[in-house]
Amino acid sequence: MALPFLSGKKRDQVVSVDLGGRTTKAVQMQRKGDRFELLSFAVMDAPIYEKTLTADLVSEHLKSILQALEAKTRVLALSVGVGDSVVRHADLPQMPVSDMRQVLRNNTKNYLQQDLSRHAFDCHIIPPRNNAKTQDKTKPQAGPPKYRVLVAGAREQLLADLQAAVKSAGATIDMVAPGLVGPVNAFEMAMPEVFSKEVIALVDIGFKNTTISILQEGDLLLSRVVAIGGDRMTTGLAEVLSISYAEAEGIKIGMPTEVQTELEAIILPLGRELRASIDFYEHQNDRAVSRVYVSGGSSRSDLVMQMLQSELMVDCLPWNPTTFLQPALPPQQMIEIEQVAPQLAVAVGAAVATLS
Ligand SMILES: Nc1ncnc2c1ncn2[C@@H]1O[C@H](COP(=O)(O)OP(=O)(O)OP(=O)(O)O)[C@@H](O)[C@H]1O
Ligand SMILES: [Mg+2]
Repeated sequence: MALPFLSGKKRDQVVSVDLGGRTTKAVQMQRKGDRFELLSFAVMDAPIYEKTLTADLVSEHLKSILQALEAKTRVLALSVGVGDSVVRHADLPQMPVSDMRQVLRNNTKNYLQQDLSRHAFDCHIIPPRNNAKTQDKTKPQAGPPKYRVLVAGAREQLLADLQAAVKSAGATIDMVAPGLVGPVNAFEMAMPEVFSKEVIALVDIGFKNTTISILQEGDLLLSRVVAIGGDRMTTGLAEVLSISYAEAEGIKIGMPTEVQTELEAIILPLGRELRASIDFYEHQNDRAVSRVYVSGGSSRSDLVMQMLQSELMVDCLPWNPTTFLQPALPPQQMIEIEQVAPQLAVAVGAAVATLS
């Protein structure tokens, strides 16, 4: 399930770029039979994380990423963040996905309760077996049967800008997808047993936002965005301690136990919002979420993970989205990957979707 707004043909090699709000994460991967090799990765500051990107800036940025990766291919898969894409559930009349995309373009208000004009869409039909109960509970089916569908959308202008940027970087665009589904695809590969048999939540703590996706036996049944991420933690610390942003960032990463109380106060509302999503799912489906798997920059902090766990009252674990990959990295990166891995979930997930 890639949910691409734009997609090309399947490839053997790809450079997958996660255009994060604060950091760009990129991986170069290739398919070898039924296995995947990780050839290189790169983590770089996003060009300007406060403003909107221009095609020129993105193009220059992509060039430096390709260089840092020592990329052998110019085929790119791009993931865009929650500010630039929407992922929603909708009930649509039974029809082929290509028709759904068209119907959505003309009726966003009707199906998505939001005016998303000049957007491109993709749809993923959720197999009926798992959501029959939910549908029965909420409303008796009236009229023709419907599909429960996961819909992803992005502005056409953004897609055109990205296409232009990729072209002027001398590369080819294979796919543009919402970052939110990246961890889902990577998790399916990294932990196939848990993915297909359990009810779990995937949480990605980003810069401005955190996303939660609840997966029931492999189906994405709920996703939400909470507008709190690593940036709020640093800004909050800078404010209460009357220090600069850079100092607060240093303390947050280097000696977080010194500011434990202050950090707790910031993580509390994040935990509450995530718990509310879990409660909502559990109430609707009569199933318990057994574990929360966390990715994103802040999942690198043990303290953040502990605080989240005590708020959510369910096991919270960081997970490594690269465990199913054959490492074929340069020696230095072999050492660094351990640290960086939790941040690569989106990029790895989009790469897998392009290669499989
Ligand atoms: N070891 C660490 N401890 C705590 N926080 C960390 C650590 N390493 C990175 N971070 C935080 O992670 C954040 C960046 O995370 P990430 O790269 O996942 O965001 P992003 O993908 O750019 O944002 P988004 O997903 O919202 O677009 C920064 O705020 C940074 O302070
Ligand atoms: Mg991110």
